[in-house]
Amino acid sequence: MIRTFPKDFVFGAATSAFQVEGGAREGGRGACCWDGFLQRPDKGFDGEEASDFFHRYREDIERSREFNLQALTISIAWPRIFPAPDGRVNEAGLQYYSDLIDTCLKNGIEPYVVLYHFDTPLYLFQKGDWLAQETAEAFLQYARVCFERFGSRVRHWITLKDPFTLASGQYITGLFPPNEKFAVSKAVEMMHRMMLAHSRAVRLYKSMKLPGKIGIAHRLEAAYPIKWQPANTLAADLEDTLANEFLLDATLAGGYRPETLRKINRILRYEGRSFVPNEAEIEVLTEAAGLTDFLGVNYYSSHFIEYYDGENKVVHNAQGKKGTSTFAIRGIGRRIHKTEVPSTDWDWSIFPSGLYDMLLRIRDNYPAKPIFITENGIGIHEQLQDGSVQDDRRIDYIRQHLNAVLDAMDEGVEVKGYFIWSLMDALSWTNGYEKRYGLFYVDYETQQRYPKKSMYWYKDLAAKRIMLTVNAIQTKGVD
Ligand code: BG6
Repeated sequence: MIRTFPKDFVFGAATSAFQVEGGAREGGRGACCWDGFLQRPDKGFDGEEASDFFHRYREDIERSREFNLQALTISIAWPRIFPAPDGRVNEAGLQYYSDLIDTCLKNGIEPYVVLYHFDTPLYLFQKGDWLAQETAEAFLQYARVCFERFGSRVRHWITLKDPFTLASGQYITGLFPPNEKFAVSKAVEMMHRMMLAHSRAVRLYKSMKLPGKIGIAHRLEAAYPIKWQPANTLAADLEDTLANEFLLDATLAGGYRPETLRKINRILRYEGRSFVPNEAEIEVLTEAAGLTDFLGVNYYSSHFIEYYDGENKVVHNAQGKKGTSTFAIRGIGRRIHKTEVPSTDWDWSIFPSGLYDMLLRIRDNYPAKPIFITENGIGIHEQLQDGSVQDDRRIDYIRQHLNAVLDAMDEGVEVKGYFIWSLMDALSWTNGYEKRYGLFYVDYETQQRYPKKSMYWYKDLAAKRIMLTVNAIQTKGVD
């Protein structure tokens, strides 16, 4: 079957400052929380050079135009704007992003600008990062400077990316700095504080009467019981509440619904903790929920959950060796690999129905907002052959997920655009450079870019706006 995308549907690709820029010691950038963390001997990779977007953004953006991309998400590195605790604004950093935004506009590429993608300035990180009130205050100041400087040119702002991915990496799996494990209560507290910071930034933006729109992007991964049994169903529900519902409530419902709070507190009982937001905070969330213009959905995979009451255990699949990961948290559940669902070498399930289900669930449970799929993509071990990469697996992956998006649109979900993670191969926070997501292959020795087969496919799609569907996808997660 041939399927058509609406005329105003945006085809784009995504980047994030720390993962692509490099230039870590240039342009007056201050240290961020990842710099020293990745330079520990057990890591083996860092972001000092990354994909050298800092120096090569002009050619990358020109190439994006040549390949018919209409939009790019770029994030601003907070430590380039406020490099030190003295509150001084780094003019060189502002100028860099000003030029980057102008280069996008000159090339007919709309920049979707992200204020924060995991790269907290080191001096704030050392004071407690998002758990410290100081970070929220500093974020608002930083947001104001960005809105003032770029607000007349930027039409789409994303305050924060993926609070749960960050919270989980920092305080549950411990794979992100500060390396703490199984402190679910800290993860919850931190997400709440991030949502307050987002809300205040939205309120500020709206008070400035600028011409654009503002939203937030959450990585939302559906959680299904591995088998329909009450204990597994509860486990999946708890995982979903922690990873999705908590943040969706804060973003769209204007506060946490009683059943969400009840489930969060049930999880926290294992730590002897509780979460009770105060009324003033809920008011802030409520006001921002009404003002938020759109929701960004980042989607890669879903999870199949089994009830679990054993010891906490997380094993990270760092090298891309299939079947080596474990995620089991007492009081929440254990993620199980479902044999009939394909997965990547890093054990991420490939399950487009999860995206469809997530979009419908948002439609059913929350006030309607336009949605952008702000990240979707697949990490693969890849090699350059004759100047390209035959990444048919990526084409399949994208096609299936776009198909799920179109299915959801047929059901009345307002999806306005789709951004592939990522424009070019980039640093993966926990897997380094071997896990490649890009539409362009990056030879890290020379920093040369090579369009992959998927880039040609996507170019054609963006021009013609029609797509041949693959096999009808399963729209139910569980047997
Ligand atoms: C997203 C993050 O949630 O996941 C990206 O926003 C990240 O920054 C992406 O790169 C894929 O994760 P990973 O660990 O495979 O790089």
